[in-house]
Amino acid sequence: MRFSREGHIYEKCKIFCLDADSYYTSSLHNLTASRCTVKKSFITTSIAKIFLILKRKMFTLRQLSQAVARNVRSKHTLPDLPYDYAALEPVISRDIMNLHHSKHHQTYVTNLNAAEDKLKLAVEKSDVSTIISLAPALKFNGGGHLNHSIFWQNLSPGSTKPSADLTALIDKSFGSFDKMKTDLSTATVAIQGSGWGWLGYCKKSGLIKISACPNQDPLEATTGLVPLLGIDVWEHAYYLQYKNVRADYVKAIFDIINWKDVSERLAKAK
Ligand SMILES: [Fe+2]
Repeated sequence: MRFSREGHIYEKCKIFCLDADSYYTSSLHNLTASRCTVKKSFITTSIAKIFLILKRKMFTLRQLSQAVARNVRSKHTLPDLPYDYAALEPVISRDIMNLHHSKHHQTYVTNLNAAEDKLKLAVEKSDVSTIISLAPALKFNGGGHLNHSIFWQNLSPGSTKPSADLTALIDKSFGSFDKMKTDLSTATVAIQGSGWGWLGYCKKSGLIKISACPNQDPLEATTGLVPLLGIDVWEHAYYLQYKNVRADYVKAIFDIINWKDVSERLAKAK
């Protein structure tokens, strides 16, 4: 059997403690036989103390090895879609979903992991210049990973309805559900270049707000709003099917919004 360095130390210590335990038991037996009660009391107390110290040492090493294991960073991975690539047709085609998920989102994940590896090395070397230079890559690829992970969940091939709580808060925040749709659509279609239109929960006001974020800027990190619903208007999200008519894509996407997921995000955000 092979052990890591920490595991090896731990095993050594455990064996030592077990030996001490046997010695302790055997000593008790011998001392009882010889009726050396005073010496027995002194020796057994001493051995018991040593045993306790060794037990504590063993516990500390166990904690140490567990902490080391916890700090081994796991890589980000591409999340599975909760439906098939063709499930959102005819609103979003299989080809778009396949490329969008397996190529575009995967690239954000790959580049985020690479940026985090570089960051780890830079932090270990206290290389502040490199740490600062990595910020744009972390924001772009980290945002891309976060945004798309929400986006897949925000969509659904089945019909869903907003919860009573979400409906009431949309009415309070925008006046009506239709007004929210109009405002969100207008803001999203108007984004210059690539970006995302969002519904986000504002913890300060207790209202839902609309935000248009450029590039892959993550909503919460850049505005403080908790993301509820995101609409990706990068061309990779619609161009194969809708060409340059972004407005048609934004109009159609409301037919496949997973309002159950949006409602659950609101409940968690509160
Ligand atoms: Fe995208």
